Amino acid sequence: MPEYIVLLGPPGAGKGTQAKVISETLGLMHISSGDIFRENLKAQTELGKLAQTYMNKGELVPDDVTIAMIKDRLSKPDCEKGALLDGFPRTPAQAVALDETLVSLGGKVQCVPLIAVEPEVLIERLSGRWSCRAQGHVYHSKYNPPKQAGICDIDGSELYQREDDQPATVERRIKVYVEQTAPLIEYYQKKQLLVEVDGTQPIEVVTEQMMSAIKKAIK
Ligand code: AP5
Repeated sequence: MPEYIVLLGPPGAGKGTQAKVISETLGLMHISSGDIFRENLKAQTELGKLAQTYMNKGELVPDDVTIAMIKDRLSKPDCEKGALLDGFPRTPAQAVALDETLVSLGGKVQCVPLIAVEPEVLIERLSGRWSCRAQGHVYHSKYNPPKQAGICDIDGSELYQREDDQPATVERRIKVYVEQTAPLIEYYQKKQLLVEVDGTQPIEVVTEQMMSAIKKAIK
């Protein structure tokens, strides 16, 4: 049976950072809705141009567009063994659509690690974040600096700061998370899938705790 893990947490909690390591360890595809939107934007597709209008304001891209995009992605052969979802679902309608999609793929959500971090820390994290252009590897100028400033340690590509990491946009993204995504905590609690991890601990400690929760859930 394919395995599906959903990472929950506010903007800057460390979902992308953890997803890169955990998906490799588990041999699952890392599906990040934000990364797919950014790839589309880079390629100047209609989807990318539409998504940009929402992302730049810190708002969510409409459900119908986002759900169709993720459904299509999950049906690709490289997701046969399952996937680690990062940034999706983000609304109750997306969570219900995901459940329905996974049934049709012969699986279900098995574990939902919630990376908990308070808003003050998020703002500092996002203002110091640097992302790699080629594959989205993530660094922080203070907490996780690259060996050489401006260059990705892993693939040598250029590091850049995301446009939606401007303080005003970050504030809006956090508010949108509280209003539209936080209700999913209860949704997954009721299904007994939620495991909360303290995301203010060092990156490696967060990884260890998430891995141990996921292993218990999928054994
Ligand atoms: P998306 O790209 O998904 O952004 P996000 O959820 O806001 O999350 P981030 O990528 O900002 O943060 P993260 O939790 O991955 O943290 P990271 O690991 O980078 O979405 C962007 C936009 O796309 C949305 O606003 C929306 O418009 C649209 N969108 C996406 N999905 C959508 C959906 N499903 N529906 C509708 N619209 C959607 O870490 C942050 C920083 O902290 C890094 O610098 C990192 O090095 C550092 N760090 C990480 N962990 C630690 C630690 N333990 N200690 C110290 N520093 C740490």
